[in-house]
Amino acid sequence: MRNIKQKSMAFLCGLSLSILSAGPQASGNVAMPPDPLYVQECGSCHVPYPARMLSRSSWQALLIGLQNHFGSNADLDRDSLQAIGRYLEANAKRGETVADGKPILRITETRWFRHEHDEISGQTWKLPAVKSPSNCAACHTSAAQGNYSEHQIRIPRN
Ligand code: HEC
Ligand code: HEC
Repeated sequence: MRNIKQKSMAFLCGLSLSILSAGPQASGNVAMPPDPLYVQECGSCHVPYPARMLSRSSWQALLIGLQNHFGSNADLDRDSLQAIGRYLEANAKRGETVADGKPILRITETRWFRHEHDEISGQTWKLPAVKSPSNCAACHTSAAQGNYSEHQIRIPRN
């Protein structure tokens, strides 16, 4: 009886460990593991931007305009759109990200972002390896995994 118990405990421990190690690493500036559908649909042209970096109204405005999304067509079928909308709204920043009474569509235009990056020179933003502040992964080496920890930053030299 005892033996069986021990065996099943060992099995359970092994199982949860393998689930943990397969999952996204939760360290640094990570709020929660990204939703797989979100990563698939909104992480192919750029990193899947963290939901917590824009407010609900900003995400809503972005999702309404996907046909003309910063010059790209990022349109989605209705079911995916609804599921992604629910995910983003549930994990959005509390409070508003607005400018002139309108929801801000870019994380890079929020006051928070500007403040956090105010030590980066204009020259660095224009480096060929960076191109645009929206290109988080140029400096945040684990941005694709949603990790923006200070320990995972490397600014390109050219
Ligand atoms: C077909 C390619 C494509 C897809 C798919 C796509 N995007 Fe984008 N997205 C872009 C481009 C291009 C930009 C502008 C990047 C730049 O200015 O450097 C952008 C910019 C953004 C920005 C602003 C980034 C900043 O500057 O702060 C957000 C937020 C965003 N996308 C969210 C989404 C979401 C949410 C989805 C999924 C519903 C999505 N994107 C799917 C191409 C895409
Ligand atoms: C040119 C390089 C570069 C780009 C591109 C960039 N960042 Fe940063 N980011 C930095 C640096 C440098 C810091 C400051 C780290 C510090 O204060 O020690 C920083 C800080 C941050 C922090 C705070 C980290 C912490 O733990 O304090 C977050 C979150 C962040 N960036 C998110 C983003 C997002 C999201 C994008 C893309 C929309 C982005 N960054 C684009 C270089 C960059």
